[in-house]
Amino acid sequence: MRRAGQIAAAARALAGKLIVPGATTHDIDKQVEAFIRSQHAIPTCIGYCGYPAATCISVNDEVIHGIPGKKVIRDGDLVKIDLDVGFEGYIGDCAATFIAGKARCDEDVRLLSITRQAFYEGLKYARPGYRVSDISAAVQQFVEANGFSVIRDYVGHGVGREMHEEPEVPNFGKPGHGARLLRGMTICIEPMVAAGDWPIRVLKDGWTVKTQDGSQAAHYENTVLITDGDPEILTVPEPEV
Ligand code: MF3
Ligand code: CO
Repeated sequence: MRRAGQIAAAARALAGKLIVPGATTHDIDKQVEAFIRSQHAIPTCIGYCGYPAATCISVNDEVIHGIPGKKVIRDGDLVKIDLDVGFEGYIGDCAATFIAGKARCDEDVRLLSITRQAFYEGLKYARPGYRVSDISAAVQQFVEANGFSVIRDYVGHGVGREMHEEPEVPNFGKPGHGARLLRGMTICIEPMVAAGDWPIRVLKDGWTVKTQDGSQAAHYENTVLITDGDPEILTVPEPEV
């Protein structure tokens, strides 16, 4: 899983460089797919419940599961990329949000940064002795204290041989509930945050999830290994500039 995570994180970093004004989401997806394959790894999103691409690329008010296609990235777009990598039977799953070119407003920059920080708030509870909803509650409290809302209809999850395993890891809830965390568990903590309200709708393509109110959305995710001590992020993020 470490190797799967390394490749997934490198693919995410590559995507961050490819997300520039003028690029199509299809081009970005194909380059990321080629990178994953060059590492002798498998883009496991392809064919998952019929999904047609290696990555999900979701722009502005699209939260998750945007299907790469003809859409052209414009200056200031908020672009989310989410991808899964399989290596020797194990999965790494990560996502991040990037601004293409120059940010349109400080609020967009703040949305990105709060969403990433919300992951780290949740990570504080990714230890034996806590339960899944301690992570959930920490994410929700942090996001809401900063004036944004957490998506309810989609959640983080266990990960391992399969892309989605137990337990569900919601980004909302009261602390003290759900599975007890134990050394050796691997989970995806993935805050999905709307600048406005949390209700979403799924487009007619059956995949793309958008905010109902049209507000901007951000997503940030890493695969995390629970240990006896500090949690280990398996999809090690690039240092922030
Ligand atoms: N990491 C995403 C998820 O957990 C990727 C899904 S691949 C897709 O939802 F096929 F479902 F899009
Ligand atoms: Co995930």
